[in-house]
Amino acid sequence: MSTKALKTNVYSLKGEITVPGDKSISHRAVMFGSIAEGTTQIKNFLPGEDCLSTISCFQKLGVKIIRKDSEVIVSGNGIGGLKHPEETLYVGNSGTTIRLMLGILSGLPFESRLEGDESIAKRPMTRVTVPLSKMGARIDGRNNGEFTPLIVKGGKLTGITYPLPVASAQVKSSVLLAGLQAEGETVVVEPVRTRDHTERMIKQFGGKVERTGDSVRVLGGQSLKAAHITVPGDISSAAFFMVAGAIVPGSDIVLRNVGLNPTRTGIIDVLITMGADIRIEPYEQEKAAEPAGDIRIQYSSLKATTIEGALIPRLIDEIPIIALLATQAEGKTVIKDAAELKVKETNRIDTVVKELKKLGVNIEATEDGMVIDGNQNLAGGTVSAHGDHRIGMMLSIAALLCEQEVVLERSDAVAISYPGFFDDLYNLVQA
Ligand code: S3P
Repeated sequence: MSTKALKTNVYSLKGEITVPGDKSISHRAVMFGSIAEGTTQIKNFLPGEDCLSTISCFQKLGVKIIRKDSEVIVSGNGIGGLKHPEETLYVGNSGTTIRLMLGILSGLPFESRLEGDESIAKRPMTRVTVPLSKMGARIDGRNNGEFTPLIVKGGKLTGITYPLPVASAQVKSSVLLAGLQAEGETVVVEPVRTRDHTERMIKQFGGKVERTGDSVRVLGGQSLKAAHITVPGDISSAAFFMVAGAIVPGSDIVLRNVGLNPTRTGIIDVLITMGADIRIEPYEQEKAAEPAGDIRIQYSSLKATTIEGALIPRLIDEIPIIALLATQAEGKTVIKDAAELKVKETNRIDTVVKELKKLGVNIEATEDGMVIDGNQNLAGGTVSAHGDHRIGMMLSIAALLCEQEVVLERSDAVAISYPGFFDDLYNLVQA
């Protein structure tokens, strides 16, 4: 188990960083490249463990994929070019890999076995296996297909209209990927709008997808053509520095090339509502499939807020770091409608509350979120990432404000989405 002594009592953070490529977009670029016809080039790919799992799964499906640091070349032969895998497709810690791949494998005429780590083994899969089975796939797994290992027997699919029972971009994407191979039309109806990287990428790869109101529609039998993809920086990774800049006194940080897709920018809205000193400079990119820009954040006083409803999917992965942000605001911050946190890499309501309490924070879990007291001093102690990258990074930012020593157990988890996190963070620390 990796253990790391974190920097505490930090005076201020200053400087510039370019956060690594977006995780959601990197996964999708490899997947679409693998099912498209021709050579796809990906620039600024995120070489984090999750996205490397996606590459390795598609290599096992017979796709030639070459990576040099953050550049990837995928030689696709169309979806029909995917071959029966000799081995289990191992997805590591990655929910996006397994759920989106299930959509692709559902339409292919062979059997595949999928498995991941101990966290994946606890995450619900029926949210994707139910709609995919309705379309005609046969998927078996532990507990009636709820948990890994899963066996998929793909084949002929028929389009469906599927109202999502939970707001999930992974489920939407999985059904759309199956829909591209199905007979007829597939419609996914969203209760609340979620990230739309899949829809944007279908278009980048020459496919057709239509949104009307809450519905997203694809026709089956489409063939996709290779594309050149430049992945913007991950706003979910940038969020740790936005919050660090807002709460460590005297800080002034510039973040370059951050993805600004409106389905992901809830963290910026929250910082603005809380009174943070944040400036966004969007790039002028008329043709860009995904918008991006620079963000400058400076320390300022903050006030509490309530985070709920349609905002939740726009910042779902940022809630751990928002909980920390709330400890430094004036007043009580309430987070609700976020029960989905319970089925992330860890139960993020429990892990955030448990670990912040260890640092002396007044924070309580609720049924669907948490309540956090503001204006708090952080003490110190031994904390754990519980194998969850975002919990590990949140605690490392918390430590900057701690008065006593902080030791982080399972610190290696950060490499799942941000291998260079500690170097980038500690380069900003002023002596
Ligand atoms: C993701 C969707 C979200 C998010 C996850 C990545 C994606 O999950 O939490 O980190 O790339 O589609 P859900 O779809 O389960 O909400």
